[in-house]
Amino acid sequence: LNNGVGRTPAMGWNSWNKFACDVNEDLIKEHADALVASGLADLGYNHINVDDCWQLTRDEKGFIHEDPSTFPSGIKALSDYIHSKGLKFGLYSSAGTMTCQRRPGGLYYEQQDAQRYAEWEIDYFKYDNCFNDGLSDRAGNIRRYGALRDALNATGRHINYALCQWGEQKIWEFGADLGNSWRTTGDIEDKWESVIDIINKNLDLSKYAGPGGFNDMDMLEVGNGHMTDEEYRTHFTVWAALKSPLLLGHDIRTMGQNTFDVIGNKEIIDINQDSLGKAAFFRARVENVYLWVGELSNGDRLLMVVNARENPVNAQVSLSSLVSTKEERLLSASWEVYVRDLWLHEDIGLFSNVVPMRNIPAHGVRILRLQRKGGDFPQLHPL
Ligand code: GLA
Repeated sequence: LNNGVGRTPAMGWNSWNKFACDVNEDLIKEHADALVASGLADLGYNHINVDDCWQLTRDEKGFIHEDPSTFPSGIKALSDYIHSKGLKFGLYSSAGTMTCQRRPGGLYYEQQDAQRYAEWEIDYFKYDNCFNDGLSDRAGNIRRYGALRDALNATGRHINYALCQWGEQKIWEFGADLGNSWRTTGDIEDKWESVIDIINKNLDLSKYAGPGGFNDMDMLEVGNGHMTDEEYRTHFTVWAALKSPLLLGHDIRTMGQNTFDVIGNKEIIDINQDSLGKAAFFRARVENVYLWVGELSNGDRLLMVVNARENPVNAQVSLSSLVSTKEERLLSASWEVYVRDLWLHEDIGLFSNVVPMRNIPAHGVRILRLQRKGGDFPQLHPL
């Protein structure tokens, strides 16, 4: 969506994955504090997004009201607090008659909601798909998500608009007109099978991502405890390279150093936030080892391999994967590339023809940044 925001994927924290409906203003404020104190805000995680269950009623004029038992100071005060920390503030509803947790939904109240959200100075809005009143075909989606898009735009406030639409009706084909991102799948779970399932469902979607409109692979589970650090590294790296929003979903106040070390990798964050905004393209899958190739604004290439097997693998990637046409492929054998490993944080050498990737652990990832010696790579996929 060309609304002046979301030119790179959103980064920040969202309450849902860890706290679900158990949210209140103190919890949210503590997370704003922790995002700043931990250094994560400086790394780019600048949104605090409240998910479901903040709202309770609508008044006779149709305006939404927060739950006074959990947000007694009101949403505006919370928004002010978050802004005072230098952060951006996000809210949630459903493009339906109720939210997924059966709080009042936003459908048919778009004018009142947009007015309130602008008054509350929100910066990000996640719009879910529950209780959508049967408006679930393409036209219904465009009507529901388009109504709030237009109402938000009319307020003049720049709000990153996130469609939580679970990939229905191939939303990626028409989402870029409606929002700044669109969920491509159902809800993530804190387990490896869920990560692989979401990866498999996103293999062919990279071409739809670009500045202002990204595939949302759902919020991160890093730090929630049911995957290994290796698996969390893979989860985080793939989300970053495919230009998914990076919305943390764990308890920032109590996280361990191992969690910070995954989500705090600046070189991976830089890939996600690269101004070109192109998602890495899936190239091959051989016996559960996946390969993607990416392209960055300075001309560098990215090679990413995920080992979804139960044992370590040695891979070799031929430089012909870096180009997209047969003709270019003939040229590639003479290329020499400088290679940097974005998890080792080391330049690993100058290679020609093939780039070796030794000993990728089970459920692990290898991500390499390549610079061509003595020239640029040809464009991978024309914009
Ligand atoms: C849906 C969404 C989740 C979350 C919950 C809240 O399941 O997909 O991300 O927002 O609703 O109820």
